[in-house]
Parts: sequence; C-alpha cells; structure tokens
Amino acid sequence: MSDDKKYGLARGLTNYGDMDFSLYLRRSFASSMGYSREMLTKKIVGIAYPPSGFNNCHRHFPELLDAVKRGVLAAGALPLEFPTISLGEVFLNPTSLKFRNLMAMDTEEMIRAQPMDAVVLMGGCDKTVPAQLMGATSADIPAIQLVAGPMITSRHGEERLGACTDCRRFWGKYRANEIDQEEIEKVEGRLATTAGTCAVMGTASTMACIAEVLGMSLPGTAAIPAVHADRLRAAEATGVAAVGLIESSIRPTQVITRKSVENALRVLLALGGSTNAVIHLTAIAGRLGIDVPLSWLNELSDTTPVLVNLKPVGEHYMEDFFYAGALGAVLRELKPLLNLDCKTVTGETLGDRLTTPSDPVDRRVIASADAPLESEGGLVALFGTLAPGGAILKRSAANKSLFEKEGRAVVFSSLEDLSNRVDDPCLDITEDDFMVLQNAGPTSPSGMPEAGYLPIPRKLSSKGLTDIVRISDARMSGTAFGTIVLHVTPEAAAGGPLALVRNGDRIRLSVRDRKIDLLVDENELERRRTYITSSQRDPRTLRGYDKLYAEQVLQADKGCDFGFMLPREKQ
Ligand code: FES
Repeated sequence: MSDDKKYGLARGLTNYGDMDFSLYLRRSFASSMGYSREMLTKKIVGIAYPPSGFNNCHRHFPELLDAVKRGVLAAGALPLEFPTISLGEVFLNPTSLKFRNLMAMDTEEMIRAQPMDAVVLMGGCDKTVPAQLMGATSADIPAIQLVAGPMITSRHGEERLGACTDCRRFWGKYRANEIDQEEIEKVEGRLATTAGTCAVMGTASTMACIAEVLGMSLPGTAAIPAVHADRLRAAEATGVAAVGLIESSIRPTQVITRKSVENALRVLLALGGSTNAVIHLTAIAGRLGIDVPLSWLNELSDTTPVLVNLKPVGEHYMEDFFYAGALGAVLRELKPLLNLDCKTVTGETLGDRLTTPSDPVDRRVIASADAPLESEGGLVALFGTLAPGGAILKRSAANKSLFEKEGRAVVFSSLEDLSNRVDDPCLDITEDDFMVLQNAGPTSPSGMPEAGYLPIPRKLSSKGLTDIVRISDARMSGTAFGTIVLHVTPEAAAGGPLALVRNGDRIRLSVRDRKIDLLVDENELERRRTYITSSQRDPRTLRGYDKLYAEQVLQADKGCDFGFMLPREKQ
C-alpha cells in the first residue's frame, strides 16, 4: 500500500529498514501510553497545541484541548496533541514577527513528520494563526483552524477597558501628564483580565476573521469570546469536523485559493482590520505561489465599504461584535462582492453558508452595506518616490485632516535614536512636520517591530496634540491608531529611499492619489546614496536562526516569509 493510502499509526513510518518492524515498534511504544489496541487502529487527528507560560492569550488552551479531543473521539478517531512553538506577542525579543516563520516551519514539519490524517491548528495570539496557516498550507494534509477567541473587557471607573487600544490611550494620557503614576498602575492591572486574545479588532481578531473567511475554520467561530461556553462547543465541533475532513480529503490548497484570498482581503478592508494582516495574508498566499500585490489591495479598497465599528477604529469591542452578529453578518453585507463558490473545511461553499437565515444584527456595531461607516476600505497602499515597493496606511484609523499634506521631515535613524531624542525639549519639531523612522524594517537589527506608532514628542503631546504624520519601515500593532505610514518598501536597511531622507526634506502625502513622495532632487539623492552605510546585519557575523533570518527574510510586500519556503518555481 502506498503511504498516502495508509492511515493512523501506519502513516509515515520511522525508517529502520524494515517497515513491518517499524509499525510493530510504533504500536508497542504507543501502547505504553495506555491506549488499547483498538484505539491504535483508528485514524488520527493531530492537534497542533501551543500553550506556554509565556503566552497569556493561550491560558485556556488545556480546557479547549479537552473539548477538541472530545469531538474527535465522538466522531471515531484518535486525537493526539503535539506541542509547537508558542508566540506570546509581548514576551518576545526583538519582536514576535521574527519567530512567525520559525513557528510555521515547526508546524509544517511536525505535521509532515508525525502520523496524522488531519490536523487541528489551535492558535490565537497575533503571529500564531498566520504561522499555523502557512505551515499547514505547505504540509497540505486536511487541516482546520481553531482560534483562542478574544478576551472580554474590564472596567476602570466609568470606562470599559480592553487590551490593547486602551493600553495605548492611557499611556498617551500618562505621557501627556493627564494621569499620574498611581492611576496608570491601576489601569495596568485592569487592561487584560481574562484568557484570550486582545479585545479589539487587532491582529489576532483580524486573523481569526481571515481564517474563517478563507474557509479554514468553522463558520461563526472567529469572534466567540475565549471564556464563553460557545468557545468550548466550537472546539468540540472543530474536533468532529477534523474527522470529517479525513473522509472528504479537503486540503488547505483546495480551500486557500486566489478567490478565497480575495474574499479575505475584502473582509480585511471591511473590518478596518490590522495592517499586519496584509503581511500575514501575503505570506499565507505566498506558500501557494499566489502573489498579493498592494495594487490589488487598492483595487478592492475602492469598492469595499468599512462596516465594523470596533476599536481601534471605532467604539466597540470584540465581545460586542460577537453579540452583534459577528463575521457572518459582515459576510452577508459583502455578499455581492464575494466569490461565493469557494470551498470551506465543512465541505460547503461560502455561498452555501450564506443561504442560512441570519440572526438579528446590531447595527450600532455592524453597519449595513447601504449605510456603511466609510464607503471605501479601511486600508490603503501608497506608492511613490519614498516607497517604490509600496507602503500601508490604515486610513480608517487615521486623521483625515492630515491626508493631503506636505511636511518637513524630522528624521530618527533608528529606534535607539528615537528613544534617545523623542522627548528632548530641544527637538526641532512642530505639529506640521512628518516624523520619519529609518532602519526598523525586516532586515534591520530590530526585525520590523510594531514600532511604527511613534510616540508623539512630549513637547507636542503635552500641548494636547494627539496625532501627527509618522512614516517608517516598521509595523504597527493592530490595536494602534493614528496617521501612520508603515511597511515602507524597500526598507531603509536594504537601501530603500527611506534611508536617504534627511532632516528638513519635504515629503508629500496624498491618500487621495495613493502617493507618498520624497521631494528631493534626484541628483541630490544620488549624492547621498554614495555615502549611506547599510545598517543591515551581515549574516557572516551571525549564527543559527539569526543568520537564517538575516539571509532569507523577504521584504514586507512579499509577506516577510523566507525565500526558500516559497514554492520552488517562486524561489
Ligand atoms: Fe496576544 Fe494581543 S497579546 S493577541
């Protein structure tokens, strides 16, 4: 029997030169875990399981795992969990993005190397879901995503608090001396109080919605709060569905297609979702050889309304989104714009899903397509002499009065330079200037951190300024807001025009024209090019994963994946 016709423990045998011996030995060792012979003849659902003492968002995974296993067993297969790397957003140095590809490789190789007929991907915190989808797509056995679900909110006086838009809001107040040390410490203890992912439409919730619209997770599961009993029922149903996938043989490469990626981009735009999701979706699609040019994002943005009134763009939180109708309500509004023939892990198409009757929708949280919050999508790509490969602006979270503007550059050459000088009372800056941060892109020493939300210099914030144009090759947390141009490509460390900007240069931003231009004469730029030194790290001075990362990471417009992880024809 060929290996792909085998199932359960008989798949992918360890090679001792005698396959019958290998199976005999494997069954014997598996028996030592207390399984009966009957259990060991069943089909196997692997469960990629990344809890960690360094990942608060996955705190409830043991309980969720029990529910997945219950579902798998009830459907007649054997559930076997296996650990993978876990990425807790705020616990990783220099930034979690650096380790997304490592988790993707770990997930892919452990799916491929171990004997499983289908896999449940348990993820949640920002980089974990994209890493799992990247890995599972490359491994390409039947796979289904189960997300952690968002935290529920807490209270501070009369205010609701949810990680982590309110983290930034209160930190801004503290920097502007509006609240004191005692109050910020109280807020610190109240921002994140339950298991689950950030409580707003940040990266984790955006990726949860993207996994659902791609067709990789069960309908209606993206927004269920982490601590709600429905989350456990979703986990049980995911276990049952994973067994169904073994029969139907639906694989990720049949679910994630150019058409479903387009649906995901539509949803991202309608949610006013995280800018990080552009990088992650590009990386997931890239595993299939599907390009996601930023011009595609702009084309879709022109015809996709913003429908969701959630922080950081709007007023509400993920639990409100869940009760308001969740992603299903958004998809119904977007129906005429979606590719309805896309297959999902249930075996149904997206169109089939949308034929079922809908619950009432709370229009304070999810607008109708007839009366959207914005007529155009929440994200826009900018191109021009400062960003020939493109840059991203989350216009739904930005200040419209700054959209058509020319300003003087105030340049910070690195994150260290920024932190040393941003609060210097002598810093030469006004509210009409553009703050520019260099050398925070993927190949810089900082590894493209979520530092694009540059702090407003204290001399301006203390006078009440809450926004200023900020430009960098860094990323921004999905929970942040402001007129912030991110992912400038090529990055400064790779010699992009961003590296050539000097204090006092003029920059023009036009959201209407999708332009970001450095207004400096080409001869002068050429002269500067002769003396800039690269801040890229030299792989010859590095070792291990650091070296691999420095040598292989692609630019933001390619999803920051590793070049060698792409399909062979794209390498
Ligand atoms: Fe895990 Fe925000 S810290 S999702």
